[in-house]
Amino acid sequence: MSTLTPHLSVEKVTHSRLNELNGDQVAFGKVFSDHMFVASYENGSWQEAKIVPYGRIEMAPSLSALHYGQAVFEGMKAYRSQAGEPLLFRQDANFERINLSAQRLCMPPISKEVFMSGLMELIRLDANWIPSGEGSLYIRPIYFAADELIGLKPSDSYKFFIITCPVGAYYSQPVKLIVSDQYVRACEGGTGAAKVAGNYAASLLADQEAKAKGYDNVIWLDAIHHKYIEECGTMNLAFVIDNVVVTPKLTGTILNGITRNSVLTLFRDMGVTVEERLVSIDEIAEAYDRGILMEAFGMGTAATIAPISTINYQGRDLTLPTVAEFKYSHAVGQKLEDIKTAKCEDSHGWVVRV
Ligand code: COI
Repeated sequence: MSTLTPHLSVEKVTHSRLNELNGDQVAFGKVFSDHMFVASYENGSWQEAKIVPYGRIEMAPSLSALHYGQAVFEGMKAYRSQAGEPLLFRQDANFERINLSAQRLCMPPISKEVFMSGLMELIRLDANWIPSGEGSLYIRPIYFAADELIGLKPSDSYKFFIITCPVGAYYSQPVKLIVSDQYVRACEGGTGAAKVAGNYAASLLADQEAKAKGYDNVIWLDAIHHKYIEECGTMNLAFVIDNVVVTPKLTGTILNGITRNSVLTLFRDMGVTVEERLVSIDEIAEAYDRGILMEAFGMGTAATIAPISTINYQGRDLTLPTVAEFKYSHAVGQKLEDIKTAKCEDSHGWVVRV
């Protein structure tokens, strides 16, 4: 399989839409920056790579991705340093993960040159779209099957896009979660560890039912015992029990979150004890009853560090009234933000100037 870098052509917009943006009022994921990157995979190699004005794409109703779900994506963010430079965070990890997801769905790997040159050029071109205050530029690489065909087989052709949107907080309030007792997100041997579009589609019904009951999302339990906490679907989860950070271990059924990995690394740097292990929902309820459940929070690119105020389990709300005083998640979230915006030393080499 060829991994030759195709020539990257750039067609710039004649008029930027940036001036129409009211920075403070942008809903997450609804306004897109001026340009997008697109590359095509055909005849066993990456053929064409270009940056063009953001816009609609033409597709046939027979597009294979729509029928058989060969579609994977990523979530990453660009930040602005105090000096105004555009910065990226751990883009190598996103590159590796999109190809792990692609491998799981029988899709050819995206070449590093295609991914990185498209990403860098796009961020350079739309750097003005990176909010300067609290926000960031959310980056969504999306890779899908492009054959026009009815018939179950891996596609021969693919499209890879990168689009970006200026965003603020994904959750504007502490999050209320309900344990899902009716549905499962993933099982061993399935696609739970991959960032595939179908995982998110499969979560929607449970999420919708959770919202109808007044919660923001569900906590997924493992598919075999219906006992061990997996993730939330929009983010990985962690708890502080008696001053120890406890998080579900990566069993192959949950997403290997880049924010999760960064947070655990920073906690360890701070000398905090971190346990990656099976965490049952009963353990969390028991810790709550004993008064030693100090914090619960989510970790994700979109969600960042999202404090959890309520966990509903078996009809009972476990409410954390101390959410405003979550010391551990607040400290790690602050450290992470400072690294991402180059306000402090980046001892792990996670940040790249674009
Ligand atoms: C992300 O955090 O980047 C995601 O893809 C989660 C999605 C629900 C916005």
